[in-house]
Amino acid sequence: MMKKNNAVLGRNTWFFDLWASSYDFAPFQFWMKRFHKPVLKELAPAKMKILDLSCGSGELLKEIQVRFPKAELYGVDISAKMLEIARTKLSGRKVILQKMDVHALQYPSNYFDFVFSTEAFHHYYDQQKAVEEMKRVVKERGKVMIVDINFFWSVIHRIFERIEPGCVRIKSKREMRDLFRGVGLREVSQERSFLFSVATVGIK
Ligand SMILES: C[S@@+](CC[C@H](N)C(=O)[O-])C[C@H]1O[C@@H](n2cnc3c(N)ncnc32)[C@H](O)[C@@H]1O
Repeated sequence: MMKKNNAVLGRNTWFFDLWASSYDFAPFQFWMKRFHKPVLKELAPAKMKILDLSCGSGELLKEIQVRFPKAELYGVDISAKMLEIARTKLSGRKVILQKMDVHALQYPSNYFDFVFSTEAFHHYYDQQKAVEEMKRVVKERGKVMIVDINFFWSVIHRIFERIEPGCVRIKSKREMRDLFRGVGLREVSQERSFLFSVATVGIK
């Protein structure tokens, strides 16, 4: 099991390190913005401590920093190259970027107001553990949100899993909802945020 997890982690690190220098290609980012929209909708103007899991090149954190300059922002990713790019666009005392695996977050429990992951969940080798970690580090009444790809039909998901390097499993809308409820998140709601993505949000 450990060996398999390390293999997935290695494949993802290799794939995203390789992709990092062209990740901000404008037409691709136009598509990625659709995944970021539901997160921006959930944010409130209050001073908040926010964690972006698998922040990639930092595009969403940059947008949050512009809209909510008082927010304390944290971003983690396993790709050092992605983080290098994120560091060029995010600055200031209120941003902390760290190389970290989402399955073993090095943060205390009950630390963040809002924890989210966009377009990355299907790359996680132990999805239950990842959601448990998200729940652990969020405060009581804090929010956990996952926005991930969803192409309606499971047959397409199974094909995509074979094609994309480092892809582990694309969960159906129902599986995602059950996972949130299973780890004890409450008031779980879901929305198809645009054609090929589903946003799931729950409260601790
Ligand atoms: C498609 S990118 C999405 C990046 C960003 N969230 C966005 O919306 O543009 C997926 C990201 O997940 C990261 N990733 C994959 N597995 C991870 C893991 N176990 N822990 C942390 N990050 C991971 C990759 O390095 C990559 O940056």
